Amino acid sequence: MDDSRDVFRMRRRGLLLAAPALALCGALPARGAGGNPFALGVASGEPTPTGVVLWTRLAPDPLRGGGMPDAPVPVEWVIAEDEALRRPVRSGRVMAVAEEAHSVHLELDGLRPDRWYWYRFTAMGEASSIGRTRTAPAPGTMPRGLHIAVANCQQYEHGHYGAHRHIAASAPDLVAFLGDYIYEASWGRNLVRSHGGPTARSLEEYRNRHALYRSDPDLQDAHAACPWLVTWDDHEVSNDYANDIGEGERGAAFLARRAGAYQAFWEHMPLPRSAKPEGPNARIFRRAVFGDLAEFHILDDRQYRDPQPCQVPDRGGAPRVTEENCPSLNEPARSLLGAAQEAWLGDGLREGRARWPVILQQTRMARLGTGQGAPVYWTDGWDGYPAARRRLLEALAERPAGQATPLVLGGDIHAFLAAELRPDFDRPETPAVAVEFVATSITSQNNARYAARYPRDPHIAFADASRRGWLSLRLTAERAEAAMEAVLDPREADTEAETLRRFAVEPRQARLLPG
Ligand SMILES: [Fe+2]
Repeated sequence: MDDSRDVFRMRRRGLLLAAPALALCGALPARGAGGNPFALGVASGEPTPTGVVLWTRLAPDPLRGGGMPDAPVPVEWVIAEDEALRRPVRSGRVMAVAEEAHSVHLELDGLRPDRWYWYRFTAMGEASSIGRTRTAPAPGTMPRGLHIAVANCQQYEHGHYGAHRHIAASAPDLVAFLGDYIYEASWGRNLVRSHGGPTARSLEEYRNRHALYRSDPDLQDAHAACPWLVTWDDHEVSNDYANDIGEGERGAAFLARRAGAYQAFWEHMPLPRSAKPEGPNARIFRRAVFGDLAEFHILDDRQYRDPQPCQVPDRGGAPRVTEENCPSLNEPARSLLGAAQEAWLGDGLREGRARWPVILQQTRMARLGTGQGAPVYWTDGWDGYPAARRRLLEALAERPAGQATPLVLGGDIHAFLAAELRPDFDRPETPAVAVEFVATSITSQNNARYAARYPRDPHIAFADASRRGWLSLRLTAERAEAAMEAVLDPREADTEAETLRRFAVEPRQARLLPG
């Protein structure tokens, strides 16, 4: 929609107005308290026709707790119709408090629909960089198009965020981030940079981990380029966790850890106050509507799920099972979303009015059996909850007239994947009811085995685990176009990117077409 040069103009202006903040990024670990309080940049999210959430966090010493006093600190803000902030439309002051790590979650209203805006914060005698954001189109209007960048899984030690630099330069309307924003633990080979700290377990450790990730200038630029819709997966807390069961810990001990992890996540994301955790609980499943064109159903498949089936005690991680060695796999009552979220999603799909229903969720939905004999299923994603998946896909089959093919977007597997989804994957002759695109990881490593696995599953049209990058999705009333964008070298911040594969979807047919 907008020329990508806008973003570069914005970045230059940000440099002029907030030189201390940007200069800080390159040498962040060496700087202490007394630095620019806006070292973590700015962000926005949750666009509605009249509003958006603006975010920042005051943290002059971001890697060591933030470096702020305990007292509340006033933060001035302004939002304008132009990038030079010469035509301000609203301004005001909020207090940033220590209990929220001096983060700001400003829920703006009173803006005009389908507009771009620019915003900036000032506090403690310093100015933030300028962020760009937009509102959603009004209900009852059909926007010409919508460009969404879909991203997930950005292990900091595995690479630089060149993918985010390209996302910012492509000037999308929205970024959908589908989980593993941080990793609580170090892993992988040939690391290019370090967490510089232990596996996160406490609120302070999760705060420092989020601050480290957010200190990356390319990630900051992607946040400043447009509003984001975010959800989480497991590594925002711990590997393969399910509800109140973590690796080697469960019940009250794990819930205490989860409370700190959820709190730090909320403090660092452009989420509304309604998503703020209360102890170990936070409601982040929600919807976002973009005029008559798209309705996003944003899911949380971690907090409410039943345990993965046939877990091996004290082993940690979700098991790989077959239908034969794990009969409980197919128990109909087992749920990935929990009863309340399942009902909420069913209602929303039935009542949705927008053309494209889009499900934003964190894992792969298409069945993917591996191995030579009986198919082996990894149980951490929807393959561990086949009855729940079938319930959801049957609900998608009953969508209202006038709605297009539901699109399921996912992450988690560190691979690109395109699939046609049907309630019974064993009957490929039956009609598909939805199309799925999985975005590969921004940086997180994989062992590239998927390409060899997928031929046994005819509903999977494409899979590639060898590349890092993001997915670009463009929606119009007539067509959905997905491009799998891969960086050439995730280890280099200035890496180039290329389009690996394109697909298209027509509104009335759940079929993958060449793009
Ligand atoms: Fe991941």
